[in-house]
Amino acid sequence: MEQTSLLGAAATDPAARWEQLAATIREHNHNYYVLDRPTISDRAYDSLFRELQDLESAHPDLARADSPTQRVGGPPLDSLDKYEHPTPMLSLQNSYDADEIREFDARIKRHLGDDAPANIRYVVEPKLDGIAMELIYEAGVLDVAVTRGDGRVGENVTENVRTIRNMPLRLRPFEGGSATRIAVRGEVVMTSDGFQDLNRRRLAAGLDAYVNARNSTAGTVRNLDPKNAAQAPLRFFAHSAGIAEGVAFGSHSGFLAGARRAGFQVAEGIVECDGIDAVIDALADLGRRRPTYNYDIDGAVVKVDDHRLQQRLGFVSRSPRWAMAFKYPAEQAVTKLLKIEIQVGRTGALTPVARLDPVFVGGVTVTNATLHNREEIARKDIRPGDWVVIQRAGDVIPQVVEAVVDRRDPDDPPAPYEFPTACPECGTAVVEVEGEVAVRCPNEAGCPAFTRTRLRHFASRHALDIEGLGEKLVEQLIESRLVSSPADLYTLHLERDRLAGLERMARKSADNVLAGIERSRGAPLHRILFGLGIRHVGQSVARRVTTHFVSWAALEAATLEQLEAVEDVGTVVAKAIREWFDDPGNQSLIAGLRAGGVRFPDEEIEEVDEGAALAGKRVVVTGTLATMSRTEAKAAIQAAGGTSPGSVSAKTDFLVAGAEAGSKLAKARKLGVAVLDEAAFRTLIGLD
Ligand code: IVH
Repeated sequence: MEQTSLLGAAATDPAARWEQLAATIREHNHNYYVLDRPTISDRAYDSLFRELQDLESAHPDLARADSPTQRVGGPPLDSLDKYEHPTPMLSLQNSYDADEIREFDARIKRHLGDDAPANIRYVVEPKLDGIAMELIYEAGVLDVAVTRGDGRVGENVTENVRTIRNMPLRLRPFEGGSATRIAVRGEVVMTSDGFQDLNRRRLAAGLDAYVNARNSTAGTVRNLDPKNAAQAPLRFFAHSAGIAEGVAFGSHSGFLAGARRAGFQVAEGIVECDGIDAVIDALADLGRRRPTYNYDIDGAVVKVDDHRLQQRLGFVSRSPRWAMAFKYPAEQAVTKLLKIEIQVGRTGALTPVARLDPVFVGGVTVTNATLHNREEIARKDIRPGDWVVIQRAGDVIPQVVEAVVDRRDPDDPPAPYEFPTACPECGTAVVEVEGEVAVRCPNEAGCPAFTRTRLRHFASRHALDIEGLGEKLVEQLIESRLVSSPADLYTLHLERDRLAGLERMARKSADNVLAGIERSRGAPLHRILFGLGIRHVGQSVARRVTTHFVSWAALEAATLEQLEAVEDVGTVVAKAIREWFDDPGNQSLIAGLRAGGVRFPDEEIEEVDEGAALAGKRVVVTGTLATMSRTEAKAAIQAAGGTSPGSVSAKTDFLVAGAEAGSKLAKARKLGVAVLDEAAFRTLIGLD
């Protein structure tokens, strides 16, 4: 009896009981996942949850989409639908040091003019390294969750995202009323311990480990089976608003406070700063605390707090003028160096590679790192068995920074490393090349490492682009002695049966490879020159050289001085090319290629129309452009008479900077190279 009176109508009315249970469970979810302060035991929570599930199976009409039971993941989807954001999701400009942050502040003040406040109020917050997401709520209930996509159109991932525990399916009121329609933007991340746990379970189940938390977040959010998302340790952190109807915030800090009140979690360590000096201190402080976060942070974001100032500042290209991302330098970790292995590269250089006890650094699990060369190991006295500091910056190959000498066992220190004096592949004594740190195997003709890497390079996509001639087949061709130099490829059709008889080969795949070889006979000169693997001759040098000399005969006969006259070719490159052609072994390789039918066609020179918009100009493209791909932009530059090198130098005329432009933009600024945004670029080449 007592109970009935306590529960009132809910005891008899399932709909009322449903409301009551759902509200209680929501409250406990919020306490547990958002506030980190549970107020009931797990067991008591489970009994409430089970009651709600039972109630919904007895009365299926009660199970609404915003029910707490819906977080377990609905049925698998066939595909993800596209969804257009109500307003585009933009990106942020990047900065890397305090000077750039001061410049950001100065730019803002310039833009605001005479009535700019002496000290602008900023908010500094962690930049979460996850998957950008927009959550749209209608009358307080989650309607749709959309990935960023290209900023304009993303994918509808509502079914997956609704399984994220700390994300409200139904909002509490923001201060001063409830939003009728609001788009809250933020980042879905995976907790670091959850990620490691997930990987441990994957490895135990015989699956590959995920490389980093961001990738597995992306994979999970876009996975078609919401049950996977329900089991993943995902969290949502709110960081900005898109459309907001029915509420106004006045400032970014006001939005953050409102979002917290509405039930969202925001990142820890957000600070408000008066003036840019306080911002710089806050950035340094956040950098120090970065390793203590339980999710990946790839930088910080500095935002002008006052929404009225934000409005006056507006946007440039696809980024707000009122915000700036700040990237922290490389991340480091300590692990054990298990052994040093030597790889022999295309030019015979012996490269030491560190094999490491797997360690999580900069968002990925690292097992190998480069040690650069012999001198580097000696200088740093790095020994197999040492504890070493590993550094990873961005996407570059991880490096061994130093040995932690203090952790060596004083009674039994590891022995110093002795760099091999003979090539590990063929046993030939290695040589030192004057002016170079690398030690090389001189046995170009006989060392299998040369043959292998040279053939692989020759057939690769940017060289002769021989389809079907991958790593494995190269290995087999060498082992079966069918091929020992690129020239041999052009007589391979005479050995069709033996080729087809190789393991995992069949007549059809053999014929495909032969067709690929046949096609490569007409490859343009610059691809052939690049494919030969001459030291220092990369794709762009190859192109410059072949367009300068036009014919192969002229190139073969070119003197050092003539070679040095080519743009971007200095003494070292010229010497490497001249020496390559002077080598009798290489001369017979060229003769062999010719005999095999490689045509060495004269290079066509593109006519430059002197009146073209970019005639003779060097224009580098970086970042993401909204209206065209980078390849399209480069094609447009060439069509307008310009060239588009891959890197910025003092000779660069313009840098076209799209969204998320990084180090190239920083370099261009340092060198005083003119920077164009996408709109200016389009105007310049006559597209708009
Ligand atoms: S504000 C106009 N704040 O960084 C852009 N973005 O380049 C407003 N991100 O993919 C975004 N943490 O999802 C903002 N605290 C933060 C952020 C943040 C991560 C992501 C964002 C976007 C990218 C912007």
